[in-house]
Amino acid sequence: MNAYLKLDHIDKYFDRGGQRAEVLKGIELVIDKGEFVSIIGHSGCGKSTLLNLIAGLTRVSAGAVLLENREVNEPGPDRAVVFQNHSLLPWLSVYENVNLAVSKVFRGTKSKAERHDWVMRNLDLVQMAHAKDKRPAEISGGMKQRVGIARALAMQPKILLLDEPFGALDALTRAHLQDAVMEIHTRLGSTMVMITHDVDEAVLLSDRIVMMTNGPAAHIGDILEVPIARPRNRIELASDRTYLKCREAVLKFLYERHRFVEAAE
Ligand SMILES: Nc1ncnc2c1ncn2[C@@H]1O[C@H](COP(=O)(O)OP(=O)(O)OP(=O)(O)O)[C@@H](O)[C@H]1O
Ligand SMILES: [Mg+2]
Repeated sequence: MNAYLKLDHIDKYFDRGGQRAEVLKGIELVIDKGEFVSIIGHSGCGKSTLLNLIAGLTRVSAGAVLLENREVNEPGPDRAVVFQNHSLLPWLSVYENVNLAVSKVFRGTKSKAERHDWVMRNLDLVQMAHAKDKRPAEISGGMKQRVGIARALAMQPKILLLDEPFGALDALTRAHLQDAVMEIHTRLGSTMVMITHDVDEAVLLSDRIVMMTNGPAAHIGDILEVPIARPRNRIELASDRTYLKCREAVLKFLYERHRFVEAAE
């Protein structure tokens, strides 16, 4: 397997007031270039912590995050993050929000005109070019999330990290954005790691679903392959046997594991 991203024997604990909270224990995962991997697990098990470790926003306690065999210790433009709550700067327009990231990453390599074209290309990709002069307060939650995705994609990261990117959206907007992300993933061949609580979303979008056990000391309980050809169509999949089987496997993991942990306490 071509180890593009490798999570190598990772432990993560937080020390506070003489107390140690073990959040993640013995995380092992290899992700291929171009793969779409979802991480699913109960609230508080450590999913965001894991994503933050990949992003370099938090340091591992033991083990290593390796991207193309290089250890990740700090945030970098090769790993862009889209958070659940749109993190746009409110005083900048849509265009300026994306341009800020583009200027940072491409200042030395693209001319001003090229940077402008690149900002517009990425806004086009998420169908937000029409709102380029609006401020975040003037657009909807779904539109803000689109801009957040455009900003992340515009950095041309090696890996796009998404922490429940559609969690705060209504079902219809969520479906539109899932389709947009699927299309972008296919078109650009990007490597994506997404956290979600939504079983259908995980099955629809992923090549593999990483299922985490409950904390403390959470680890990867199981990994499910989703052997469904792309492009995927949500309507057709609603009655597809493989889809339904994957969905059931994830539900079983979540609810049986949950019961198991409660019974063990
Ligand atoms: N900076 C920190 N200091 C201390 N404890 C932390 C810190 N960050 C996270 N934790 C703890 O780590 C555990 C996992 O948190 P995390 O946010 O990763 O969970 P999650 O799986 O993303 O949950 P959710 O699904 O609710 O977003 C929690 O018990 C949390 O309190
Ligand atoms: Mg979280």
